[in-house]
Amino acid sequence: MNIRIFDTMQQASAAGAEIIAQAIAAKPNTVLGLATGSTPVAMYKELIRMNKAGEVDFAKVRSYNLDEYIGLDGTHDQSYRYFMDDNLFNHVNIDKANTHVPCGTGADHAADAKHYDEMIDAAGGIDVQVLGIGNNGHIGFNEPLTPFTSMTHIVKLTDSTREANKRFFASIDDVPTHAVTMGIHTVMQARSIILMAFGEGKAEIIKKTVEGRPEIAVPASLLQLHEDVEIYLDEAAASKLS
Ligand code: GLP
Repeated sequence: MNIRIFDTMQQASAAGAEIIAQAIAAKPNTVLGLATGSTPVAMYKELIRMNKAGEVDFAKVRSYNLDEYIGLDGTHDQSYRYFMDDNLFNHVNIDKANTHVPCGTGADHAADAKHYDEMIDAAGGIDVQVLGIGNNGHIGFNEPLTPFTSMTHIVKLTDSTREANKRFFASIDDVPTHAVTMGIHTVMQARSIILMAFGEGKAEIIKKTVEGRPEIAVPASLLQLHEDVEIYLDEAAASKLS
């Protein structure tokens, strides 16, 4: 793991955007693995700025998002499809047909999940995977104790995750109980990974992620077993590192 600590979230996000821009410059049809949540928003804003300035061209880029809530279709403003359109895709020259978010509303979730992994394989695998991290160390929606070998699958969200995400919904009862997520193995197959974490609230889990031993109780700690991982932090998220 290569850990970089930046003074501010903006600086870390600009550096993250630079990694993506360089990947696209080297391979115009780069396959990006993308994440939702508040963490990557500033990086997406920077990519939008760079795209408008002619510094990055999404024309041939393909993308696969990590996860989606079960039961929310793309018109729901808390669905991750809506989030991606709103925070990135609608503002850059990406071909929407080349953007993929797992389907949370199909008739056969298991078949849809399997098909998602097959599509990623057919695209040649993920070149750069962007990750945030949940307070309990989840990546995507891979909650603690998710098997290391997991591929895209359906998960029951933990109470702590639903609690953390309820701020986006009218009440806790409106937070979906299940989600579809790329598995740990799906993520580990990416050629390179960038995980970002900002703010004091992430300091404890970042310490476990990078200084603890890799264990399925802290899904993000398993990234220690991947050979090309960048961890970009602001001062606050890095404040508990020894
Ligand atoms: C959600 C998403 C994760 C994300 C996490 C952290 O549960 N499924 O992909 O990393 O939240 O969110 P935030 O970046 O808002 O802290």
